[in-house]
Amino acid sequence: MKQVDIKIPAEGYCVSYQSPSNIAIVKYWGKKGEQIPANASLSLTLSECRTETHMMVKPSKVANEDYEVSVYLDGEKKDDFVPKIKQFFTRIVSYAPYLTKCSVEIHTHNTFPHSSGIASSASGMSALSMCLVDMERNCGVDMSEEEMKKRASFYARLGSGSASRSIYPLAAVWGEHIEYKCSSDLYAIAVEDVHPVFHTFHDTVLLIEKGQKSVSSTVGHSLMKGHPYSAARYQQAVTNMSKLKDIMSRGDVEAFGALAESEALTLHAMMMTASPYYILFAPHTIEAIQLIWKERKEKGLPVYFTLDAGANVHVLYPDSHAGSVQSFIKEKLSPLCQGGTYINDMVGSGSSKI
Ligand code: DP6
Repeated sequence: MKQVDIKIPAEGYCVSYQSPSNIAIVKYWGKKGEQIPANASLSLTLSECRTETHMMVKPSKVANEDYEVSVYLDGEKKDDFVPKIKQFFTRIVSYAPYLTKCSVEIHTHNTFPHSSGIASSASGMSALSMCLVDMERNCGVDMSEEEMKKRASFYARLGSGSASRSIYPLAAVWGEHIEYKCSSDLYAIAVEDVHPVFHTFHDTVLLIEKGQKSVSSTVGHSLMKGHPYSAARYQQAVTNMSKLKDIMSRGDVEAFGALAESEALTLHAMMMTASPYYILFAPHTIEAIQLIWKERKEKGLPVYFTLDAGANVHVLYPDSHAGSVQSFIKEKLSPLCQGGTYINDMVGSGSSKI
């Protein structure tokens, strides 16, 4: 990625972007070096779970290697968010040296409830990256729409790996894989050949356990180093990415669901067999999985699940069965959610300017 050094306008620059969360079907779990994934991953881009970010940048009188950053969440100053943003800036400064010569004020709002156990890093880092690249473009750097997305995905990846995939509509791949043309470890790309059934696919997020996870994803990734099963897992991910490409172009919902469930359980199996070992499931996670399996068997409903690195369950189903699956969720699964809360989300259109 080329370096761009822009001059921040004397009057400052303001921009707002919204960016969604995404749910990985083939999981990114394990990394090398600085934010290089151990295997390629593929996710569906969501729409309801989003971060809206407003960025205000002003030129500084003197250069500051430590960055001038302030962060507000829903209008409240959040000093504890600053180290994560400074770490992000440190990782991208060689591509964006102007960051040492300005002050950045970030105002963010998540559309999903605070402490819902839904990670805001994917939506938050991708929204901020789009803001930065938009500013570069408007301060004289020549970039096509496609180049802009690629650059934002490159930045977002350095903020949080999964964030690289949130830029694109529908579905995205991050990580080099022989069967995905132009795929890269450095940024995500949009998946091209996606059957219409997946354009309106649903993901209802069951909020099983709100609050902070006991082990962060960053620590989880690091525990894949020296893990006795990591090599086999990475190989399995390569194979699953090939299978998923074919499944998504054919629109095979049953095979898609089976692959998503296997990937989810493998992710958690990696946690349970790490050293030190740990469990992010909650009893209600397992109950929800068993009810999904029962409903599928007894009623023949195309309803499947996946999990991220937490206790929440993502219920996956095609739009053709949304009515019956949502009744099932309301009746049988919502009692397993904290405060009965869940979020009906579905595939969406990626980041956009607001
Ligand atoms: C289980 O992207 O949160 O959700 O790069 O350290 O910020 P960092 O990790 P992060 O890891 C996501 C892990 C996952 C799987 C996935 O989204 O692919």
